[in-house]
Amino acid sequence: MAGDFMDKVAVITGAARGIGDAIAARFLAEGARVFSLDLGAPDEARAGVTYLTANVTDPASVAAAFAEVDRAAGQVDVLVNNAGVQRVALAENMKFEDWQLVINTHLTGMHLCSAEAIRRMRARNKGGAIVSIASAAGIVAIEGRGPYGAAKAGIESLTRVYAVETAGAGIRVNAVAPGSTRTKLIEQGLKDGTIRGEWQVERIPMGRLAEPREIADPVVYLASDRASYITGQTLVVDGGWTIQGMVHVSDWLKPAPPAK
Ligand SMILES: NC(=O)c1ccc[n+]([C@@H]2O[C@H](COP(=O)([O-])OP(=O)(O)OC[C@H]3O[C@@H](n4cnc5c(N)ncnc54)[C@H](O)[C@@H]3O)[C@@H](O)[C@H]2O)c1
Repeated sequence: MAGDFMDKVAVITGAARGIGDAIAARFLAEGARVFSLDLGAPDEARAGVTYLTANVTDPASVAAAFAEVDRAAGQVDVLVNNAGVQRVALAENMKFEDWQLVINTHLTGMHLCSAEAIRRMRARNKGGAIVSIASAAGIVAIEGRGPYGAAKAGIESLTRVYAVETAGAGIRVNAVAPGSTRTKLIEQGLKDGTIRGEWQVERIPMGRLAEPREIADPVVYLASDRASYITGQTLVVDGGWTIQGMVHVSDWLKPAPPAK
């Protein structure tokens, strides 16, 4: 796919680190001009990415960041809604401000950035692609992740609605739902004890977490012309986690180890 995004402009939210940074790297490699909209400065700035400070939950901040992209590049061909946060508590203990933060970052953030991008894509009349990062946690229930799972399921719904609204303008809207991926979001959970390493891999048939580039590749694919007839879909990228039925089977059902 090298060069698939020559002369294209990709706006990626939350690209200062983690999955967003890996997505930025892949779009750069394909020739795109890349803008990151993030709350904070990058852990390690990636040469070629323009880092803009923006809060995806704040309409004025999002509008100002897109206006900055207009001034610098004059077009938006791709939007990746990736910015995210996690707060873990049972329903009865969830602080209201944590509920709001998680819903606003994922769901409202996707809406605000998509609205800005769609406005520009329609006006330019050259189509476009939006890919949003959902989650396996929006498909299966994980205790303590009420607002996170609901926001991620909401992203899948908005993906379908905005796909239908914009298909006539040549805009495709899709989502990628990752399983557990090795980033600071997971490191934070391991540190504060809300997850444990062995719990994470137990349900994953592939027996390991995803690397950020394994999420970035499908995102770039869905944004590319190679996915020209795909819209309104969520691609689950989770090593088989959400299709796993029973974790344990009888010994006699286990395959024989390979011959030495
Ligand atoms: N890591 C995983 O296992 C995993 C699994 C499924 C889905 N996801 C999703 O992938 C996306 C990226 O996650 P990650 O693991 O790279 O997380 P991360 O914490 O490493 O990076 C998230 C980035 O989003 C930015 N951000 C947070 N709130 C923002 C806001 N209001 N405005 C702008 N930027 C903001 C942060 O500053 C950070 O740079 C998130 O949407 C997350 O929910 C992650």
